[in-house]
Amino acid sequence: MRTATPRHYLMCRPTYFDVVYSINPWMDPGKPVDRALAVAQWEQLRQVYVDLGHTVDLIEPVEGLPDMVFAANGATVIDGRALVARFRDAERVAEAPAYRDWLHGNGFPGPKTAELVNEGEGDYLLVGDLLLAGTGFRSDPRSHAEAQDFFGRPVISLTLVDPEYYHLDTALSVLDDQTVAYYPPAFSASSRAVLRRLFPDALIAGDADARVFGLNATSDGLNVVLPQGAVGLAAQLRDRGYRPLGVDLSELLKAGGSVKCCTLELRKAS
Ligand code: ARG
Repeated sequence: MRTATPRHYLMCRPTYFDVVYSINPWMDPGKPVDRALAVAQWEQLRQVYVDLGHTVDLIEPVEGLPDMVFAANGATVIDGRALVARFRDAERVAEAPAYRDWLHGNGFPGPKTAELVNEGEGDYLLVGDLLLAGTGFRSDPRSHAEAQDFFGRPVISLTLVDPEYYHLDTALSVLDDQTVAYYPPAFSASSRAVLRRLFPDALIAGDADARVFGLNATSDGLNVVLPQGAVGLAAQLRDRGYRPLGVDLSELLKAGGSVKCCTLELRKAS
């Protein structure tokens, strides 16, 4: 028997969404983007969360920051304390102060901006008491020690090796406090060994599910919201007692993002 726990999320409407630069292999500025469709798809995701009983706060989008819709990257928030992102790429640097100001003004006092490159929940995923931390493309490996000091939670460093899976949340999703799903080829051999040891019962995603960003999912412990194309993963989830809910975020995938990228979890102090 799996149980759902209500979540508190922060999202950013893709009002200014576009693909005008390329900082990951999915982004092709030559390919047209349908912004109205992006907004409609994003609204559907927000509605799914509302219907599941989650709280969704919204941060005001900023013109000229087309990737700001990917709220997961803005910070990592645990125990009511926020470690704000420091982006690798100049195009996204100005998102960090916007997220810091929002957190500061909305019940998360004293947010700290990371000293080292740290792309928030793109690379930092909490599983129970462990903070899994990705590196290889974006977050600086030394930012893992900074996060461990800040949160007082053990950090497990994982190295990503495939540029298509450049953030940890593109290759691994947290299903509940003990369970993850992941795509092994995205990780170095030693990180795969660590994952096997920590999560012997993990769901293992195949190529087809990974390619449609199936692992870029959110879970409340029962309901798993994931890209609708990830049909193999959805079947595995169903077999394991989860309730998969597919959503279509095809426009946002043109920027290399999907469900989880659009969702920052705000964990209050318990
Ligand atoms: N275009 C964005 C970037 O390359 C996509 C970010 C996706 N976010 C995520 N949490 N994986 O930075």
